[in-house]
Amino acid sequence: MKEAHAANAAKRQFISYIFHEIRVPLNAISLAMGLIDVEDEHGKKEILEITRTQLESISTILDDSLSLQKMEEGKFEIAPKPFDLEKELSIVSWSQKKLCDQKGIQYSCVIESDLPKYIVADKYRLRQVLLNLVSNAMKFTDRGGRIELRAVGIRPNVIRISVRDSGIGISPENLRNLFQPYSQVGAGRNQKGHGTGLGLSISKKIIQMHNGTMGVESELRKGSCFWLELPLSSENPVELQSPSTEDSVSFLHTGMTSPEKRGRTPKILIVDDSSPNRMLLEKIIHKLGYDCRTACDGSEVVEFFVNDRATAESFDAIIMDEEMDEMNGHVATKEIRRMGFDVPVIALTGYAFAEQRTLFEESGANFFLSKPVTVKILKETLEKALQ
Ligand SMILES: Nc1ncnc2c1ncn2[C@@H]1O[C@H](COP(=O)(O)OP(=O)(O)OP(=O)(O)O)[C@@H](O)[C@H]1O
Ligand SMILES: [Mg+2]
Repeated sequence: MKEAHAANAAKRQFISYIFHEIRVPLNAISLAMGLIDVEDEHGKKEILEITRTQLESISTILDDSLSLQKMEEGKFEIAPKPFDLEKELSIVSWSQKKLCDQKGIQYSCVIESDLPKYIVADKYRLRQVLLNLVSNAMKFTDRGGRIELRAVGIRPNVIRISVRDSGIGISPENLRNLFQPYSQVGAGRNQKGHGTGLGLSISKKIIQMHNGTMGVESELRKGSCFWLELPLSSENPVELQSPSTEDSVSFLHTGMTSPEKRGRTPKILIVDDSSPNRMLLEKIIHKLGYDCRTACDGSEVVEFFVNDRATAESFDAIIMDEEMDEMNGHVATKEIRRMGFDVPVIALTGYAFAEQRTLFEESGANFFLSKPVTVKILKETLEKALQ
């Protein structure tokens, strides 16, 4: 009884904390938006940059909360594939160095030359871990400090990646609880930066799922070194095929389905009840070279499919929002399938929980994207849907 009470209290505290953490960047975005009309071109660019970083932090908070939820339910999965380690570390370093420069921290990345070119791991999860480690280092290191990301081979089949900082350090008693969810040491929450206190517990779990280990050495006021050790696959990753280029396509530059290849320009139907979303999706679809038409609700689409079968058949894909007032995305998709249309449906869901996905799956949708969706992901999904 007592335990249940404590667990509930912890959950309530966590939820209010997450709300707070999300409100901070939301507030920045809303202030930024209030300024956009009165700014000159340079100011507008700055505002957009602020908005982008704030959106990223909201996305991270939601991703972390979701990852933790999935871990608690035993549903968190990794997808190891071969990838170019040096390239991945450069991607992490590129964004982090820029942030360090802004904060006046010296950033360096050292990669030992005889490391294998390709390793097998879930590169997105590994990136999540490294970004958390470097962003922690940045939060807890003052201007004038140093951060070093280093990758070395320590045993024939083990690589070690470490993030060392010259920041505030962690006391021995605080080191003990460090990898527990929601643990923020000392004045944690109010100190150097915001965060949910989930990053390290999620990171450790991700590394363990790769059969690796993670740890830290730290001294108060001297700095910390967080490290992870990953076993390399017994197959020689160098011999493995090059990683697919599937996830390295850049927006509007390569890999776009050529409308000519299909004989005509593909036509996409966007169904979303939020007019800003519709407008943005429409702009993106046009930029990607496709035609499009919009609808504000599931019921509008169904009515239209009933009344004008010829036009309905001319759509090559539908982007379907989930929550809509009169008829939601699941019901509309079900109706479309019931009428015998097999057009690919890309479901856009605001919730990333399995139940929502199942509802869409059962309705007959083919692809699932959780909001917020990036242009890159939308583009890649459309390309798959149009194949
Ligand atoms: N490099 C570091 N130097 C000093 N303290 C650190 C460092 N890294 C982590 N910590 C301590 O460990 C706590 C937990 O880190 P963790 O990454 O789990 O959460 P967070 O950064 O606070 O939030 P989140 O990563 O979820 O946004 C931090 O709040 C901080 O107190
Ligand atoms: Mg963190």
